Amino acid sequence: MTAEVGFSRGLEGVIAAESALTYIDGQQGILAYLGIPIEELTEHSSFEETAFLLLYQKLPKRTELADFKQELLRHRTLPEAVLDVLKRLPRKTAPMALLRTAVSVLGHFDPSPDDVSTATLQAKALKLIVQMATLTAVIGRWRKGLEPIVPNSDLSHAANFLYMLTGRKPTDEAARVFDVALILHADHEFPASTFASSVVASTLSDIYSSVCAALGALKGPLHGGANEQVIKMIAAIGDPARAEPYIKEKLTRKEIIMGFGHRQYKTYDPRARILKHYSEKLAQQAQDPCFFQIEEIVEKTVIEALGSRGIFPNVDFYSGTVYHYLGIEPELYTPIFAISRIVGWAAHMIEYLKENRIFRPTTRYIGPPLGHYTPIEQR
Ligand SMILES: CC(C)(COP(=O)(O)OP(=O)(O)OC[C@H]1O[C@@H](n2cnc3c(N)ncnc32)[C@H](O)[C@@H]1OP(=O)(O)O)[C@@H](O)C(=O)NCCC(=O)NCCS
Repeated sequence: MTAEVGFSRGLEGVIAAESALTYIDGQQGILAYLGIPIEELTEHSSFEETAFLLLYQKLPKRTELADFKQELLRHRTLPEAVLDVLKRLPRKTAPMALLRTAVSVLGHFDPSPDDVSTATLQAKALKLIVQMATLTAVIGRWRKGLEPIVPNSDLSHAANFLYMLTGRKPTDEAARVFDVALILHADHEFPASTFASSVVASTLSDIYSSVCAALGALKGPLHGGANEQVIKMIAAIGDPARAEPYIKEKLTRKEIIMGFGHRQYKTYDPRARILKHYSEKLAQQAQDPCFFQIEEIVEKTVIEALGSRGIFPNVDFYSGTVYHYLGIEPELYTPIFAISRIVGWAAHMIEYLKENRIFRPTTRYIGPPLGHYTPIEQR
């Protein structure tokens, strides 16, 4: 029997690993990657540079960044066989499920999937960052019966994703906003998906299995799936005048309001603050303020009711409106979360494996006392 070190439902407050990657102060609303506040990264960095920062734990020099971007460009095209598998799946399958299957298939094209040395994992992660973006764009088009678009090597990672999804080169402003959203989702310490991928990695399994586990965890509506639910709720409200009564009714019925609350933040999620700014900007540019106005009322109503209990908007509340104003359909919001968070999943795996110890917690036994097997005729 193992000595009991305490029990916390949902592992709340349990420190499961040491990490130098992401710092969260949930009381002050601070988030930083390698000590750099996300406000500075979204102002000055790019998704590519942020991915390098997390994977290599340092900001790249100019040549390192150029080489990293070149490597990303090199992998934008997918193996034909992956596309063939996708085409055989039911078109109505949820995009997150398609992405999970496709990542699993990608593993079959890696000649050394079980090599988990740091440099190899960094290279595999880089490839997955690109290929998951291409896959998501392909899935977005395939669901509508549209052919994949050949990647454009003149475009940044963010701009190329929007291009591969829509077939149109995005404006600089749209590409920049999407880049910011990718930076903001790149890592977040040890949420369910990152923990899931780290648990799998700690058995020395391959990165594809780890990422599939992470995708499964992210898909759930209590985690990454919340952004899709938020935008569906905003669309269901439909009119700013209906927002307050709609939310009050939900709260009276003790229903959870998607896009609010967080295990770590007991104040405004700093990512939501940045995304709110861009939502407002895009709403003004589109001259279509309806969704943003509804969100502001929803936010005010929830904070009035639950703010004193530390419930505020989280990242998923305003990311949906950003994607909505960029013309992206709700079913792709969680895969878009994944194409950024793959960076964090991989970075944590690489970091954890340097001093690996298999994750193996225990349960507190609450079953019957030790007894004996009852033969079937005596039951
Ligand atoms: C994120 C979340 C899963 C965190 O869960 P947690 O740390 O286990 O917190 P709990 O679910 O225990 O919540 C604590 C209390 O606040 C309430 N609460 C938490 N989030 C709430 C929300 N979004 N709407 C209404 N009430 C909420 C809970 O009902 C609970 O109330 P109780 O103490 O009366 O039972 C939770 O806040 C939630 O379900 N949010 C909505 C889904 C979402 O947006 N997820 C994305 C997270 S980035």
